[in-house]
Amino acid sequence: MKRRAVVLGLTAATAAVPTVALASSRHTARSGSSPLVFDPAAHTELTTTVTDATGTVHTVTYRFHKVAAYVAKPVDAVYQSLNVSVPVSVDGAAVDATDAPILLANSIGGYMPSSVAGNTGIGGRPGARQQLALAAGYVVVEPGARGRTLVDAAGVYYGTAPAAIVDLKAAVRYLKFNKGRVPGDVERIVSSGVSAGGALSALLGASGDSPLYRPYLEEIGAADASDAIFASGDWCPITDLEHSDAGYEWCWGGNPLGNGSTVDPSLSKELAAQYADYLADLKLRARGYGTLTARNLDDYLLETFLQPSAARYLAALPDAERTAYLSAHPFITWDGTKASFTWADFLTHVGARKKNVPSFDGFDLATPENNLFGTGTTKARHFTLFSLRHEEGAGARLDADIPAKLALMNPMHHLVGKANPRRSKHWWIRVGTKDSDTSLSVVSNLHARLKELGDDVNTVYYWDGGHGADDDPGDFIKWIGRVAGHKR
Ligand code: DHB
Repeated sequence: MKRRAVVLGLTAATAAVPTVALASSRHTARSGSSPLVFDPAAHTELTTTVTDATGTVHTVTYRFHKVAAYVAKPVDAVYQSLNVSVPVSVDGAAVDATDAPILLANSIGGYMPSSVAGNTGIGGRPGARQQLALAAGYVVVEPGARGRTLVDAAGVYYGTAPAAIVDLKAAVRYLKFNKGRVPGDVERIVSSGVSAGGALSALLGASGDSPLYRPYLEEIGAADASDAIFASGDWCPITDLEHSDAGYEWCWGGNPLGNGSTVDPSLSKELAAQYADYLADLKLRARGYGTLTARNLDDYLLETFLQPSAARYLAALPDAERTAYLSAHPFITWDGTKASFTWADFLTHVGARKKNVPSFDGFDLATPENNLFGTGTTKARHFTLFSLRHEEGAGARLDADIPAKLALMNPMHHLVGKANPRRSKHWWIRVGTKDSDTSLSVVSNLHARLKELGDDVNTVYYWDGGHGADDDPGDFIKWIGRVAGHKR
């Protein structure tokens, strides 16, 4: 597909940055005439040991490149920088990563700022996704990104929405701008992230080349290249934020808090009712269910994800452990192949809900998401009419910029209605069945919509998995190779 020429964008020939722009940024990343040109020669060679998903230890030698800024006009290069790790040999056997898939692994959590500037080698704890990818012969790119808590000397919040997604897009553009210079196949970028990072990974996948981000990308001097990615790996994405309070009450509304108390039932019911309206607007269709509504969404979740999840879990247990699990959890009926149980019993099994009502747009403006939608010198704002009007009265209106910011942060905005044709077509989506950081329907709605669009969607709910669970890390690495068509 031919891209329209972007006015103001950088090209390889014109990537020079006015000294003044760099000098006025908070952190001058580097001098030189073409800061966005990747220099393959600038690297250190490192050796590390990686324990793969099966427990085998590998010795991996790799080139480690530090890119001091992936944009020409960084606001804060401590965050707007990235590291590239390129495998050279695994267990002494040479690896040619020239055309290998690229894992773009963000480490964002809590919508907080995330920096890789201080890293002296590939990141992640032993066994982490980045390391598994490196040992599999893939190129690993670790981008930093601005986050919600960053505030400058004048009290201006400069990492609130949409800064983090703009930065991740700029990192993708940097890689694509450097096609042929940066190792790996820039047409096979696979993003990964967990929780807020999973939300941003999903958003990166859904919003590829959306014109909505152009002014923000131009402002920071992002490279003139596509920001569409090939595939998106999303663990427990905390996304669809403006519908999350309603979704939370639809899902966990009847569950107690950790201290045994219950949430305000009238607030909970009011929000749950809103979710029915949202589902009616979404008009998601799933085979065997017709249109998903507040009345059949529980069955859809149970039959599509939760019962198969329990069945997978039970089938993998040794006989004695399975027998013990089943006798400790009599709500599950097991016929040797299938697990069945009711939605009500499942909710009882999960137990305490993690968050109070409302879970995301807090009345007291104290949640991470209130801060995410802060702007200027305002640290935190309301982003739903429900919470705003609860605090400020029935006539209150959201700040005028909020609807556009919500769209910039929500993958569903890019998928529902006329879906973005430049989105990723390959999706790896994971969440634990005991994860009450958000509604279990966030992932199922995303899945249902992507399936409806005909995308290749691999979604699994991990039985009894909590927030951040990753029970099949090796399978993700294999999946990347498969969807990318990579042969070693
Ligand atoms: C994360 C968790 C949350 O519960 C939330 O609301 C936002 C982010 C996280 O772990 O990244």
